[in-house]
Amino acid sequence: MPAVPNRSDPTLELRKALGQFATGVTVVTTLAADGTPEGITVNSFTSVSLEPPLVLWCLALKAAIFDTFRVASQHLINVLAADQVEISNRFASRGANRFAGLKWTPTDTGLPRLDGCLAWFECGIRSRYEEGDHLILVGRVESFEVAPGKPPLIFHDSRYLNAVPTAAPRRRRAAG
Ligand SMILES: Cc1cc2nc3c(=O)[nH]c(=O)nc-3n(C[C@H](O)[C@H](O)[C@H](O)COP(=O)(O)O)c2cc1C
Repeated sequence: MPAVPNRSDPTLELRKALGQFATGVTVVTTLAADGTPEGITVNSFTSVSLEPPLVLWCLALKAAIFDTFRVASQHLINVLAADQVEISNRFASRGANRFAGLKWTPTDTGLPRLDGCLAWFECGIRSRYEEGDHLILVGRVESFEVAPGKPPLIFHDSRYLNAVPTAAPRRRRAAG
């Protein structure tokens, strides 16, 4: 059934439709020019390439943290686990001191690595593209770590979900 356009906010139906695509949740961290740790909750993270190892995420041009990421040469993608809802909300909140009381460890290059995540990807900036109201940041993965074992944090239709494991995808054999 096609959605009825909402005249007061024409993007509302599109947001709702895009929100049907479930994603994981990450916090992308970096250092500001003065060395202050910064970070933002992001679900637009995706893999791009294995060889070379590339990933991307999108940052709203209007994000308060925009200027920091516009010039930062590195960032760290922290993949959140289901028990890190509070961290996701904290890094999505305006004005909060996002690192106050939080357990994190600097990487060798000083980037903030949040404790208790499922995976970490330390990236050097490969390219940035402004498209529409977002900046696409493509990062080259310089190092990564995994700590599987906990369920992931899932975001769907503006809500957090618990993941229920089902079957693995069936792979077809290549013909020939
Ligand atoms: C689950 C979730 C996913 C989000 N994903 C993104 C994203 O991919 N890109 C983005 O720019 N903002 C995203 N946001 C919004 C930001 O985290 C944040 O709320 C917004 O930038 C306001 O913070 P500011 O003070 O930095 O402007 C997401 C928020 C949530 C809760």
